[in-house]
Amino acid sequence: MRTTITMKQIAEHAQVSLGTVSHVVNGTVPVKKELRQRVLTSIRVLKYQPSQLARGLRRKSTNMLGMVIPDITNPFFPAVVRGVEDVAFEEGYRLVLCNTDNDAAKEKAHLEQLRSYHPAGLLVIPAVESTLSADLRAASERNPVVFIDRCPANWKGDAVLAANEDGAFQATSHLLEAGHTQLAVIAGPSHLTNAIERLAGFRRALLQYRIALPSRYIQEGLFDRDSGYLSAMRLLAMQPRPTGIFAANDLMALGALLAAKELGLRCPKDVSIVGFDNLDFVLLIDPPLTTVSQPGYQLGVTAAQLVLERIRGKEGPGQKVVLPAVLEIRASVATPYNAGRSGSNQPKRSRVVVRGKVAAEGG
Ligand code: RIB
Repeated sequence: MRTTITMKQIAEHAQVSLGTVSHVVNGTVPVKKELRQRVLTSIRVLKYQPSQLARGLRRKSTNMLGMVIPDITNPFFPAVVRGVEDVAFEEGYRLVLCNTDNDAAKEKAHLEQLRSYHPAGLLVIPAVESTLSADLRAASERNPVVFIDRCPANWKGDAVLAANEDGAFQATSHLLEAGHTQLAVIAGPSHLTNAIERLAGFRRALLQYRIALPSRYIQEGLFDRDSGYLSAMRLLAMQPRPTGIFAANDLMALGALLAAKELGLRCPKDVSIVGFDNLDFVLLIDPPLTTVSQPGYQLGVTAAQLVLERIRGKEGPGQKVVLPAVLEIRASVATPYNAGRSGSNQPKRSRVVVRGKVAAEGG
């Protein structure tokens, strides 16, 4: 059975880079005559698959990748972009970046503009109000499209995601192991797949510990600081007040910390808070935030590698690549002030908890 010759084998045979082979095959940028000749000779000698070669030459797309992100002010997204750009540059592609400010109309306009540039492929992190899925299924028949971080509910194509449900389960289990039984959640936008998955992880942990979840303890945020602040102000005014909050991203966790401070509540002594993302700022706040680390940069690298494989002819069903999310335990979780004292509202000496063990005693 004839084995499928890969572009990598052509590059090795012709003694050129993979990017050079890609440019010759896809006609993306001019290649020096001598190099082009070597590549074409290798293609002939190795009997490269004509359908892949023909498709590449026919596609006439540029050496440009288009990328759409929802909020350039949120440090999580630039990390993803950096991962994409590092791979694209290495492979001879240039990145055109569009920020949608979570606005569906702006997102649609950006994608229409990007299409006119004939990108070799698209990488998309949809806006909170995105309406993209149907449009992009059509687009993906012409050029590869890879969703990152979150994808339309009915998307059957390629996507690179973090293990959101497992990460949220770890975060909530950490609060439960510290003795919390009155836990609230500030979830992300309810129609985004990653927000749905994180809320599911929170619920699964409570179910496993047989802890009730009053519906008022579920607040929906917008993955930004202000919605985290407003949600926490509502939660911390409730009776009984939740003793712990899982916020589905770090910006909302920051908002919750600001709300607690404004109400004269200390974290973790009066309220424990856990986030999701592990953005750099969480190390600089007081207390340093316990949060779930998700590999933004690696999400970008993996998505760029996947879209380039598709550009180079890789066929087959859509792939969902899920990268691990890991709890980073710092100092924003303690045993609840009312642990083990039903009915008492006298604050108990709080103890910072690390992996279920007491790490420090508070005054
Ligand atoms: O902080 C931004 C959030 O939105 C992150 O959790 C990331 O997953 C993105 O979806």
